[in-house]
Amino acid sequence: MTLDPQLRRALAERIRYYGELGVYDFYRREASAPDAITTSSEPEIDSGQREPMTPRAKTVLPQREESIFEAGVPKPESRTTDPVQALKIIRQDLGDCTRCRLHKQGRKQIVFGVGDARAQLMFIGEAPGADEDQQGEPFVGRAGQLLNNMIKAMGIRREDVYIANIIKCRPPGNRTPERDECETCSPFLMRQIAAIQPKVIVALGAVAAKTLLAINAPMSELRGHWYDFRGTKLAVTYHPAFLLRDPRQKKETWKDLQMVMQDLGLPMPSKGVE
Ligand code: URA
Repeated sequence: MTLDPQLRRALAERIRYYGELGVYDFYRREASAPDAITTSSEPEIDSGQREPMTPRAKTVLPQREESIFEAGVPKPESRTTDPVQALKIIRQDLGDCTRCRLHKQGRKQIVFGVGDARAQLMFIGEAPGADEDQQGEPFVGRAGQLLNNMIKAMGIRREDVYIANIIKCRPPGNRTPERDECETCSPFLMRQIAAIQPKVIVALGAVAAKTLLAINAPMSELRGHWYDFRGTKLAVTYHPAFLLRDPRQKKETWKDLQMVMQDLGLPMPSKGVE
């Protein structure tokens, strides 16, 4: 939705005022965003609510208009240029989060993110599962083992990248995150991304891709291209949990990872994802 410039200015002014008071935590529901994040499994479900775009366009979606909720409001981490410190401040700010219903639906702990605060490459998944909830670290279960293999196949180590999820608390029964849960939680992820400033983001699966890009399209269309995510290159590939169910897609995933490797200047090993 494009706001009337006068209204936009007035809103920005008000938000800046709140920022001066130390209030910068806003939740917004975007009227034009796709209604639902359909599934955490990758089958080609398309609700038909795709935003106007050329699905096979080789690169780059139009960048989303910078949110007035983010513009000009200094976050507490802006007082440091050290990404390690910035992540600590963001984690502190998150606290023992009760901002959405998930805090009372059986989560054991918040799963913030793990890895190198100066990573060039960031992987973003969907939500913690049982193992992650137990251990407090993203991608440590079976899907995590496969993600580790994917990272290894790229010739790098898990410690070299940063790994996070769209939401930080396990949804009950590993259900797909609700849209309002993503909207409430993802501002913290946005701040993590801003602190780390990776060169490339890889969105793992439909939930991550659709939340970050605010588009609704089948995975087969989303993957294989570069997108511009607020000035950072973003690629989409299949979620490792999906690959465990459909290993035939590992070949396509390997193509996506090779695209990323090429961009990062990583040498191309011949072996793919196992
Ligand atoms: N699946 C995800 O999307 N994230 C995790 O951390 C684990 C499984």
